[in-house]
Amino acid sequence: MARWRRFLGAAAAALTVASMGTLMQASPASAADDGPQQVVGGTTATQGEFPFMVRLSMGCGGALYSSTLVLTAAHCVSGTGTNTSITATIGVVDLQSSSRVTRKSNYVYRAPGYNGNGKDWALIRLASPVTGYATLPIATTTAYDTGTFTIAGWGAASEGGGQQRYLRKATVPFVSDATCNSSSMYNGQIIASNEICAGYAAGGVDTCQGDSGGPMFRRNASNAWVQVGIVSWGDGCARPNKPGVYTQVSFFASTIASAAASLGG
Ligand code: ARG
Repeated sequence: MARWRRFLGAAAAALTVASMGTLMQASPASAADDGPQQVVGGTTATQGEFPFMVRLSMGCGGALYSSTLVLTAAHCVSGTGTNTSITATIGVVDLQSSSRVTRKSNYVYRAPGYNGNGKDWALIRLASPVTGYATLPIATTTAYDTGTFTIAGWGAASEGGGQQRYLRKATVPFVSDATCNSSSMYNGQIIASNEICAGYAAGGVDTCQGDSGGPMFRRNASNAWVQVGIVSWGDGCARPNKPGVYTQVSFFASTIASAAASLGG
């Protein structure tokens, strides 16, 4: 059941984005009323805190892999090939900021063999490079596939809620494949090699619709950010015993690097 929700999620996010102009006019005060609330259960990020964060016009998130490539989820894109329809917004917490930088896509590379089960990653190539933003290196070993992770995005701040104008962030703990696949959680639906779970058993903090494709990341041994996950799916958002499910970036790191090289880096 939960596995097909990711498709509905992307569709719902796209629909929501169609009306976002209006929504954002209607609730300009959303950054001001940040208690410990909602990503779900998070707070508003500060300008410059996550310079690699990208908002994509189909209603997904992404991360700057290089000056011309955005790493996102396969379920956010329609396939591999020339694609000039996506707009990426870079460098801002506030999507309406006059200092935002935008780029059109010129090519999309979706994970080969993607069929809705695992392999949920894709690269979007920008029509021209951006400069001045730190990129987010991907984890190339499983060394960082544990601990506490940061999640961020402009997706819903509560299950069923609207897209956000201001980037939100939260932290969530690693959940082992064994726990995530247990009968009280996803009961065998997790593809252990491809996917990594994160969240609290009690719920309350999670990514949600519209955060898909965005990064889950942590600090490495040198205190630099490293990407360990890509927002993929979940049963609802922030529900008890339903952690967020993320693409396990380390498992795909060499494939992603090869694809990136083939796209010109
Ligand atoms: N599939 C959703 C999207 O397209 C992301 C869902 C993440 N859900 C979660 N509970 N962590 O935006």
